[in-house]
Amino acid sequence: MARIKLDLERTIGQVDRRIYSGFAEHLGRCIYGGIYEEGSPLSDEHGFRKDVMESVRALRMPILRWPGGNFVSGYHWIDGVGPLEKRSRKVDLAWFSEESNRFGTDEFIAYCRTIETEPYICVNMGTGTIDEAQAWVEYCNGTSNTYWANLRRQHGHEEPYNVKYWGLGNEMYGPWQIGKLNAGDYVKKAIEFAKVMKWTDPTIELFSCGESGWSEWDRIVLEGLAPYVNYHSVHIYTGSDDYYSNVMAPHQTERALSNCQALINNVRFSQNIEHPIHVAYDEWNVWFRAREPQTALEEQYTLADALAIATYLNSFVRHCDTVKIANLAQLVNVIAPIFTNKEGLFLQTIYHPLRLFGEYVQGTALDAFVDCEMYSLPNATETAPWSRRLSDLGPFKMLDVTATLNEASNEVVLAVVNRDRERAHATTIHLADNATIEGGIAYEVNGAHPDIVNSFEQRDNVGIKEHHLDLGGNSINYVFAPHSFTLLRLPVKR
Ligand code: AHR
Repeated sequence: MARIKLDLERTIGQVDRRIYSGFAEHLGRCIYGGIYEEGSPLSDEHGFRKDVMESVRALRMPILRWPGGNFVSGYHWIDGVGPLEKRSRKVDLAWFSEESNRFGTDEFIAYCRTIETEPYICVNMGTGTIDEAQAWVEYCNGTSNTYWANLRRQHGHEEPYNVKYWGLGNEMYGPWQIGKLNAGDYVKKAIEFAKVMKWTDPTIELFSCGESGWSEWDRIVLEGLAPYVNYHSVHIYTGSDDYYSNVMAPHQTERALSNCQALINNVRFSQNIEHPIHVAYDEWNVWFRAREPQTALEEQYTLADALAIATYLNSFVRHCDTVKIANLAQLVNVIAPIFTNKEGLFLQTIYHPLRLFGEYVQGTALDAFVDCEMYSLPNATETAPWSRRLSDLGPFKMLDVTATLNEASNEVVLAVVNRDRERAHATTIHLADNATIEGGIAYEVNGAHPDIVNSFEQRDNVGIKEHHLDLGGNSINYVFAPHSFTLLRLPVKR
């Protein structure tokens, strides 16, 4: 019998709902044919796909990052504003494609307003200049009687957009990036970008471009940019055809987050920096099948991938003092939870844990005690480039658990991923100090086998099953099904 023990006074910290944020890049069918499809009967008067918006809204994403990704390092934002018929069509060398520029800054802001999310813009530090980044901030946030703020007004947007979040380039360390730099050169360049952007609008918050969170690049960048930034951005993609490697790989984030927190502590201490710096995991996901540009990154997600996603989110909750923002890469069609064609959409397997976390996992993270079977992964067969030496991190608990106390609804929410491929795990859930549970609701994400996917033909192979719990007291028993993610909402009395 597995055991979960919860002490409602033994807490980790506050879960920041911004860890449920998203990312949309000009890549494949994410923007065009995904969130934006002019002339489609499914779109509104702006060209926004209404069915997509409805599914996006249910994810309650606090922030949306845009326009890339690798795309941004060749993107000139000025090409994407003004009358549609005058916008120029450009080559996109990040993804070897063409960019019509029909969706630009004004469309992005309108989209964010419609889905009630905060915009986060990453600036071009590849082919872009300091002037362009300054102008972009002024175009979005300027209130003076000056050229770029007036251009926004001319385009029909009198009020400033007040874009708060700005990224200083994307993956500038990588040879795949237009304008790749070494860490020292990136720091020098980013400081100059940061200065003028902040001088233009001192209220904005900046993100330094990190790597894995534990690398030499991260150390050098944090040492150079700590005085200027509020967030250090890191990325991770994992995945494997081997079931256990796939579902355990998200524990890499725990290595990254503890290492990155140590780097941040060290820099803040040695430079006497008062303002906090947090980690923004501004790209993360399972991604290992559709990796080449010609696949348009249209990954089809299995149930096992959904279990990996739930494990990722659990690890962000466990490290809620370190990671305050996380952006799932990406939103629609491209390594995404929502998949469209011209007639409609279906929800990929990974959509379901994302939806449940976004809705219910909030408040105070508890330091749950978990005693269960362990799993060792001697020969990790991960194929994703960011994932190294996974076996070092094990043995792993078969049940990956977080508990949060939602003070507003007075309920404890348990998020439990049973990674055991074959067996159910009967578990006792015990509350300390005579606190009691009174009934509750269980939501289970599961399917016939770990390799199953959803599709246009079979939309509900993996979905959410909900049932009421007729139980109560200081200790309750629950059986977690094989290869499942279960979210328990447990009203508590203290
Ligand atoms: O999300 C797909 C790509 O992955 C992004 O463009 C890039 O930042 C990362 O390498």
